Amino acid sequence: MSEQKKTPKGRVFYVGMKLLQKPGNKPLQEKNSFFHTYYKWVLWLSLSLYFFTSYLITSNPNTNTPTSRDTSSHVSNSESDVVPRTIMDSTTNTLGVLKNMKVFVYELPPKYNTVWLANKRCGNHLFASEVAIHRALLTSEVRTFDPYEADFFFVPVYVSCNFSAVNGFPAIGHARALISSAVNLVSIEYPFWNRSKGSDHVFVASHDFGACFHTLEHVAIAEGIPQILKDSIVLQTFGVNHRHPCQEVENVVIPPYVSPESVRRTLENFPMKGPRDIWAFFRGKMEVHPKNISGRFYSKRVRTEIWRKFNGDRRFYLQRHRFSGYQLEVARSVFCLCPLGWAPWSPRLVESVALGCVPVIIADGIRLPFPSAVNWSEISLTVAEREVGKLGKILERVAATNLSDIQRNLWDPRTRRALLFNKEVEEGDATWQVLVSLSEKLGRSYPRSLVNGQLESDT
Ligand SMILES: *[C@@H]1O[C@H](CO)[C@@H](O)[C@H](O)[C@H]1NC(C)=O
Ligand SMILES: *[C@@H]1O[C@H](CO)[C@@H](O)[C@H](O)[C@H]1NC(C)=O
Ligand SMILES: *[C@@H]1O[C@H](CO)[C@@H](O)[C@H](O)[C@H]1NC(C)=O
Ligand SMILES: *[C@@H]1O[C@H](CO)[C@@H](O)[C@H](O)[C@H]1NC(C)=O
Ligand SMILES: *[C@@H]1O[C@H](CO)[C@@H](O)[C@H](O)[C@H]1NC(C)=O
Repeated sequence: MSEQKKTPKGRVFYVGMKLLQKPGNKPLQEKNSFFHTYYKWVLWLSLSLYFFTSYLITSNPNTNTPTSRDTSSHVSNSESDVVPRTIMDSTTNTLGVLKNMKVFVYELPPKYNTVWLANKRCGNHLFASEVAIHRALLTSEVRTFDPYEADFFFVPVYVSCNFSAVNGFPAIGHARALISSAVNLVSIEYPFWNRSKGSDHVFVASHDFGACFHTLEHVAIAEGIPQILKDSIVLQTFGVNHRHPCQEVENVVIPPYVSPESVRRTLENFPMKGPRDIWAFFRGKMEVHPKNISGRFYSKRVRTEIWRKFNGDRRFYLQRHRFSGYQLEVARSVFCLCPLGWAPWSPRLVESVALGCVPVIIADGIRLPFPSAVNWSEISLTVAEREVGKLGKILERVAATNLSDIQRNLWDPRTRRALLFNKEVEEGDATWQVLVSLSEKLGRSYPRSLVNGQLESDT
């Protein structure tokens, strides 16, 4: 957390709110209106105080030490030395990066979440950001145990951990029912869902087509986002730059989950700047004769095209079967192909960035996670789906011109950090970026919109 948040003056705001906390979390209606009148007033007062004191704090050059690092001449190879870009920016932001945001995490019966963790895979597979974000929030400084001071409400439902006994893939058929059951529960037990119709409630939807909960795009589109989620905020791996029914909801694009421990172990053996003896790498499903499923082909046949054209090309190392040493291969490669599958995104993106292999993104219109923290155009290459046949030429040209620039940007530890979810929130990591994105949506928060209303009617 930033220094300013820790100053005694910054605490005034917090203490002001604390005074109003009621023991027990289900006050009566009358209590509520009494509470709200005073709540508005004290919030307004504390906010003004907070603004004022923050101004004093940031105006004092001596408390503003991180600014001295905010120069392009600050170069360091040591990870711990590097101050994430977002933190630097916070010194110029009077409210701090996370704007004193508070998140309440619902405690749901285990059948909605922790029960699934009995299967070890649940917390570690590519859809496990639903678990990782929940876990990190529990110990985070933004967590509040008082729902009345919360800006956002996190609803922890794990829907991706019901692995099919047949093919081992997650069966997400039960996702809609499990989520609506959870919403039902919180809307009966607490007043917060009803008062905002869920607009300050946050969910994770970390599979192929996000909140549409289906792996096939045409089915996902036909079924759409469940009505019950439509007013809420969805953190999802799916994102495209055009209109799409599966993102017609307030959303934040998040990276798929890759275990930070596994990345660290791999980098111990194959350091970022070590030799890379594989030139262009892809391992994964690559149907040689893709099936026509309702007029749709896996990967829009892009992977098939890559296989046809470059299998046998000595510059390309293409493999179609699973292999436990997969991460080592990424760490040994210069370029890593990240073609679409059924959905545009894939965990390869995160693995490539985390292990320093230049991602070659072949997925037209993909919307990538955390664009304000990761400058994707500086650290990756984008190849249009129809240009995939020219991959060889395109990569040759980059290798001969700007490869080292791209690698230098890519190997900046801040980039890797922004895409990995740690057990506890770390400044600049993926959960941190989620919180930054949420803090940009504070207008949806019930308490804050009350304050705004108050300020408006006062002027
Ligand atoms: C898990 O998935 C299977 C297959 O889709 C489904 O029949 C079952 O109800 C799911 N289990 C739970 C507890 O939701
Ligand atoms: C919220 O609304 C639902 C449906 O109208 C109702 O059943 C529920 O009791 C309400 N919850 C609270 C806490 O009043
Ligand atoms: C795919 O199958 C559909 C019928 O399901 C058919 O109408 C269409 O022509 C086929 N497309 C191709 C490219 O073979
Ligand atoms: C990302 O990098 C490109 C190329 O260097 C630059 O033009 C662009 O302004 C950068 N975007 C952000 C958000 O920093
Ligand atoms: C590198 O060059 C390619 C064209 O060969 C261009 O598309 C890409 O934007 C360049 N990347 C950077 C970071 O300069």
